[in-house]
Amino acid sequence: MSYGLLKGKKGIIFGALDEKSLAWKTAVRAHEEGASIVLTNAPVAMRLGKINELAKQCNTEVIPADATSLTDLENLFAKSMEILGGKIDFVLHSIGMSPNVRKDFPYTDLNHDFFLKTLDISGLSFHKLLQVAYKMDAISEWGSVIALSYIAAQRTMPGYKDMADAKAVLESIARSFGYYYGKEKNVRINTISQSPTLTTAGGGIKGFNSFYHYAQDIAPLGNADAGNCADYCVMLFSDMTKMVTMQNLYHDGGFSNTLSSDKVLEYYSD
Ligand SMILES: NC(=O)c1ccc[n+]([C@@H]2O[C@H](COP(=O)([O-])OP(=O)(O)OC[C@H]3O[C@@H](n4cnc5c(N)ncnc54)[C@H](O)[C@@H]3O)[C@@H](O)[C@H]2O)c1
Repeated sequence: MSYGLLKGKKGIIFGALDEKSLAWKTAVRAHEEGASIVLTNAPVAMRLGKINELAKQCNTEVIPADATSLTDLENLFAKSMEILGGKIDFVLHSIGMSPNVRKDFPYTDLNHDFFLKTLDISGLSFHKLLQVAYKMDAISEWGSVIALSYIAAQRTMPGYKDMADAKAVLESIARSFGYYYGKEKNVRINTISQSPTLTTAGGGIKGFNSFYHYAQDIAPLGNADAGNCADYCVMLFSDMTKMVTMQNLYHDGGFSNTLSSDKVLEYYSD
């Protein structure tokens, strides 16, 4: 169902690879809610993913950009404003990659060049896109920027490795940049801490299935799925949440505030 929540708004969505991606579902929902959007992803994802299919569905264009490259980001914002005909009202940063996770290096024996890459792609890219937008004055007053995070930024989860550190950086950038962008331009910056969701990035984490089911059994509402995440993003892009900024917002069916559940305790009963 559409409520017209984003009617007339212009947005940039990073990170839609295939139909499982959290960014893919968000792009579809934003389009349904009346927004005009531009899609972007790393140049390599143009070959690997199906982003052109999504562009057709959302009646839009794809502008390739490596989110770690300031030049690519400048080009992205300039072209997006040209295509959409004005400043940007909302941005979704839905980007994560760790070579250490891909190669399954233990946290106590990480490759530090890979670690820097993880931090650059999954954390610093958020600062880079915000800095580029800020300098170009590319985001409208009361615009909304969201990055997707995970609870391992606060609470250790084996297997998430250096992505946990990258997410801690990401959440801190939302608070720090949120202060300056809020004061200067009333731009809102938040992170959504999403439930485990079966996507290419999610499924690449060792033990993902066990943790997915564990979270499902702990959370009173169960895990939030990709469609729920898209709905939450739309609400935060909309004018209904104008005074929400610099927050890390848990979107996890109550998992983050639940120590255990009847089901899990029963499993350990005598
Ligand atoms: N799936 C989960 O369980 C889960 C849970 C919480 C948070 N998240 C976060 O959600 C976000 C989206 O992940 P997803 O689960 O939809 O997986 P996904 O694999 O569909 O999306 C990750 C995206 O990052 C893009 N990317 C990688 N390197 C890039 C670069 N240099 N420049 C631009 N883009 C680049 C990939 O091409 C891909 O589209 C990530 O930040 C992820 O950490 C996922």
